[in-house]
Amino acid sequence: LFSAYPAWARPLVNSDIFVQVLQEAHALFAEDTEGVNADYIPELAKIPSELFGLALVTVDGRVFVAGDADYVFSIQSVSKPFTAALVLQEYDAPEILVERIGVEPTGLPFNSVLAVELHASRSVNPLVNAGAMAAVSLVPAEDKTERFLKIKQFYEAMAGQKLKVIKEVYRSEAATNQSNRAIANLLKKYGRIYADPEEALDVYTRQCAIGVSARVLAMMGATLANGGVNPISKKQVLEARYVPKVLALMLTAGFYDESGRWAYEVGLPAKTGVGGGIVAVVPGEMAVAAFSPRLNQAGNSVRAMRAIEYVSQRLGLGLF
Ligand code: DON
Repeated sequence: LFSAYPAWARPLVNSDIFVQVLQEAHALFAEDTEGVNADYIPELAKIPSELFGLALVTVDGRVFVAGDADYVFSIQSVSKPFTAALVLQEYDAPEILVERIGVEPTGLPFNSVLAVELHASRSVNPLVNAGAMAAVSLVPAEDKTERFLKIKQFYEAMAGQKLKVIKEVYRSEAATNQSNRAIANLLKKYGRIYADPEEALDVYTRQCAIGVSARVLAMMGATLANGGVNPISKKQVLEARYVPKVLALMLTAGFYDESGRWAYEVGLPAKTGVGGGIVAVVPGEMAVAAFSPRLNQAGNSVRAMRAIEYVSQRLGLGLF
């Protein structure tokens, strides 16, 4: 719609267009029942599949929503870029992720053990489970409680509001995360996890169970879109120089083995989670988030993907 102009010359768009496009996307995909809830975390299978919410937050703090934008679901893998951001900030060194984790996309599923064996970096990249647990292990902390608190507080600053763990989801995943436990221990063998693997696993599982809504995810994304400054609190949550690093990871690995396809079709850095959430970032402009529990084979929310793609096309948001 307005991508023909360079960002600095774009006219201020009437906010009505955002409301209209979100409502269109909601109406267009409301009846779409493709995909299934995640069930390897038993609690996620219980979430009503028909829930569907959209949110858009601009860098100047305007918020637009449609559908179930305030339903609270577990953040799951959408947490991963934010913990990677925290690690960058804590070490104040862009090399930390390259050297201690890796930044190459895998073309393999998010929980792939094969990827750990194939990639020389072992921990692969911060957006797959292996690298995400390695990222958790890098957060400087005396113990598990402090490690988790630092992560949660960072997400809260990104979101500009308090967040809570959904205890049922945490317990459900903690009781069934044998695969992640295996990966954490494999990383230990390779010297690519930097705290006790059980501790990293537990904090990671808790991080994934933090409750967010589409509205909250859009606000967290808008903080990235706004050079690391939360659009409402105006706090510099993440140093501006680390924002492009996080967005590069999201563009190349945000959708696992569908990352290439997403970049090809939509062309925006984004991150998905098996809770059904997705957030896409338009640097300098806005973030668009969507939530719908039904996932495709890759573990990405079908309707959330379709809705964000629609919004992006209608507003001309793609970067390329
Ligand atoms: O570790 C897991 O399997 C989950 N806590 C998170 C996975 C996830 O969200 C993958 N996303 N699409």
